[in-house]
Amino acid sequence: MLSYRHSFHAGNHADVLKHTVQSLIIESLKEKDKPFLYLDTHAGAGRYQLSGEHAERTGEYLEGIARIWAQESVPEELKTYLEAVSALNPRGDLRFYPGSPLIAAHLLRDHDKLNISELHPSDFPLLRNEFSRDNRARVVREDGYQQLKSQLPPLSRRGFVLIDPPYELKSDYQAVVKGIQEGHRRFATGTYAVWYPVVLRQQIKRMVKDFQATGIRKILQIELAVRPDSDQRGMTASGMIVINPPWKLESQMKSVLPWLHKVLVPEGTGHTLVEWITPE
Ligand SMILES: C[S@@+](CC[C@H](N)C(=O)[O-])C[C@H]1O[C@@H](n2cnc3c(N)ncnc32)[C@H](O)[C@@H]1O
Repeated sequence: MLSYRHSFHAGNHADVLKHTVQSLIIESLKEKDKPFLYLDTHAGAGRYQLSGEHAERTGEYLEGIARIWAQESVPEELKTYLEAVSALNPRGDLRFYPGSPLIAAHLLRDHDKLNISELHPSDFPLLRNEFSRDNRARVVREDGYQQLKSQLPPLSRRGFVLIDPPYELKSDYQAVVKGIQEGHRRFATGTYAVWYPVVLRQQIKRMVKDFQATGIRKILQIELAVRPDSDQRGMTASGMIVINPPWKLESQMKSVLPWLHKVLVPEGTGHTLVEWITPE
């Protein structure tokens, strides 16, 4: 089943959180000259047209990136993320939104590598096209979870893995934990980030318990909720579970999340959270 299209959701509050964390992790890895691998298991189409039919139909970006874009000044922690958004919008008005692989491509250096996988029959050709001239990138129409087995450890022994499934299948809540175990067994020093939606809080509590049960150390949870938990339909919050986060990430997110929450949720509902699931 592949009915999910990220084009309906691109640039929403969940993307803002995810791509902020992604950019901060990449910037930390760049503090050392040594090259690293960026592995994106569920990459999407790469570029999204915000004035396109899909984005306009839901209007989700209007309560996400558009609110950030309208600010006169932004916290330091958002600068590289917003540079990647600006790179697609050189005229200054917000027309396109970069997905995770394009954000990475913008921030990575010439000697870093990207491994990007996407299964959707319509999104994969768009993604491949985006990278047709980027010789740092390997772009495949293959199962993202398989990449965690076949592409790790990276030759460079440094890496960042983003796992961002659509959770159309309930099995994704368990598959991400299993995927992390597979990856971590092969490459224990890598940084991994798993995105999750809060639709039913119980599913996330269960997933957090499953992460604790893996015995893996250094797992940080970051969350931004726009509404209180609910048993009604729809996503009320989203988060990132980061394994082996760069040492600065906890304080960076503690510093920027209140600002993001204030701007993204002017009505003040919901909450933010930065908490260790398992410490060192
Ligand atoms: C949430 S979207 C990804 C968004 C992207 N990471 C971003 O931040 O811009 C999830 C994507 O995963 C794809 N997908 C679903 N199952 C997959 C699998 N097993 N392997 C690779 N891609 C998959 C979907 O087609 C969809 O495009």
